[in-house]
Amino acid sequence: MDRFNIIFLFSFLYFSFIATCLFLYFNTMDTSSCPDYSEYAKVFHKPGSGGLLDLPFQRPVEACRKFTSSVIESVISNITSKISNLDLARLFTNTFPNTLDTTIGSTACMSSLATDCHPLSYIITGDINAMWIRDSANQILPYIDYIQHDPQLKRLFLGTIYMQAHFFTIDPYANAFKEPKNIEALSKSHVIGKRSVDLMDGVFERKYEIDSFASFMGLSYQYWVASGDDSFVQSSVWIDAVDTILSTIRKQQDPTFNITSGEVLDTDYLFSQQADRPTETQFLNGRGQAVKHTGMVKSLFRPSDDATVFPFFIPGNAMLSVELGHLSLLLERSSGGKKMASEAAAISKEIKDGIYKYGLTNHPTYGKIFAYEVDGYGSALIMDDANIPSLLSLSLLGFLPQNDTIYQNTRKLVLSSDNPYYFSGPRGSGIGGPHVGLGYAWPMSQIVRILTSDQDEEIKQALNIIMSSTDKTGLIHESVNVYPSQNTDQSYTRSWFSWANGLFGQAVLKIMEERPHLLISPH
Ligand SMILES: *[C@@H]1O[C@H](CO)[C@@H](O)[C@H](O)[C@H]1NC(C)=O
Ligand SMILES: *[C@@H]1O[C@H](CO)[C@@H](O)[C@H](O)[C@H]1NC(C)=O
Ligand SMILES: *[C@@H]1O[C@H](CO)[C@@H](O)[C@H](O)[C@H]1NC(C)=O
Repeated sequence: MDRFNIIFLFSFLYFSFIATCLFLYFNTMDTSSCPDYSEYAKVFHKPGSGGLLDLPFQRPVEACRKFTSSVIESVISNITSKISNLDLARLFTNTFPNTLDTTIGSTACMSSLATDCHPLSYIITGDINAMWIRDSANQILPYIDYIQHDPQLKRLFLGTIYMQAHFFTIDPYANAFKEPKNIEALSKSHVIGKRSVDLMDGVFERKYEIDSFASFMGLSYQYWVASGDDSFVQSSVWIDAVDTILSTIRKQQDPTFNITSGEVLDTDYLFSQQADRPTETQFLNGRGQAVKHTGMVKSLFRPSDDATVFPFFIPGNAMLSVELGHLSLLLERSSGGKKMASEAAAISKEIKDGIYKYGLTNHPTYGKIFAYEVDGYGSALIMDDANIPSLLSLSLLGFLPQNDTIYQNTRKLVLSSDNPYYFSGPRGSGIGGPHVGLGYAWPMSQIVRILTSDQDEEIKQALNIIMSSTDKTGLIHESVNVYPSQNTDQSYTRSWFSWANGLFGQAVLKIMEERPHLLISPH
């Protein structure tokens, strides 16, 4: 090899290396000239599906997709080539990649910490430009089975875990965060002391919801199970977040009064604000209704971001109990985490025991059921809300088996007019909630119905309700007015709601795996 060739070879290797690094650091596209997706999603884009509903093609043009994965593209073509209903195939095409297509804000590496260089992914919720802890975990989980075949996708997961860990260190009581202007500045943030409602830098909303904790734990656990990568468990960023979360959970198990002296105990979280609806503030100057000690953990807000009526929110506690169990398995793998592992397992059990001791009630029609919220004094709220965690999703969350008797009793109730937030009308049916209001059913509840059903007929019915819920937009909305509305603007809410779209994709994949005959018609 002559000298010129050697120089050429080395230059080539050098530039390839730089190019690869740049690609890894900035693997999201420049989409600044692309249309706003909330507007794009409301309008029909050709070609139509050719089915009865002729659903439009709502994926952004390729240059405007925020993240692309050839593995996900091949999953889409594989599945849609098998589905016989053209509208259903189109709905899957639009929805399954929606999170990747539209919500990946940035992925970067914390380069200042050369020894602990880890990715950070920022994922917006859809039409609200902020990252929710719960939503972001749920937004990417439909892709978990494919991370072994796509290193960029795997990195996106790891980046989300690290980003959430950073967020918890800023404020464990917050549910949603703004895009960090300077991602490296995140590493310098630290845990803060007692506050009421003032927001730390970077916090978008400070509603304390226990399923935020559970979502972070669940994402970390599922990523480890799917990838075998437990590197993050050794990182101080992740361990510090877990430490902060566990001590917050311990505090939020506290009752309102000291049982010996009767004095009101101190609390380090209050939420009250001027609002024209009670779900946007909390009882008793922001501390929530009084509770006894039950082993369960208070949650002052629900996954809908509405205030709880009673702080022991049963679906959130059930999810937290499951995920604390998973967390303890992860912590066992960390050199410094053994003590926290047994702490997590202990709290998991206390919560579960608390649910069975204080969270059940006897219903005159349905028998023994789970309440939605309780206070430990004997008060119980009977209802369900569409957002996960919900009572309907208890088996999906892994808290109990699908054929559990108390769950089945509860499931029957929440899917009937004995649940005040179950709505049924000419334009569909399903569970809604106080967040959007009466008469608005959430397609998410029909998706969860599919994911918790073992009946072909029920699954087919739910699929049909969902397909006709898109109002010809070919996407899953937050909620749908089940009554015909004079004002067409009010026929649905949120044109762009990433979580529900991905969840629908996940449901279709599950049906294809377990009950393909429901999707592939015999010719
Ligand atoms: C798609 O289907 C082909 C042929 O059946 C198969 O080889 C491939 O693994 C599938 N890809 C995915 C991502 O499912
Ligand atoms: C409860 O009150 C008793 C008696 O005044 C006191 O000894 C104890 O420290 C208090 N416990 C808490 C958790 O404040
Ligand atoms: C629930 O299903 C499991 C396994 O599928 C079975 O072993 C169990 O007996 C069932 N329980 C009830 C109450 O039907």
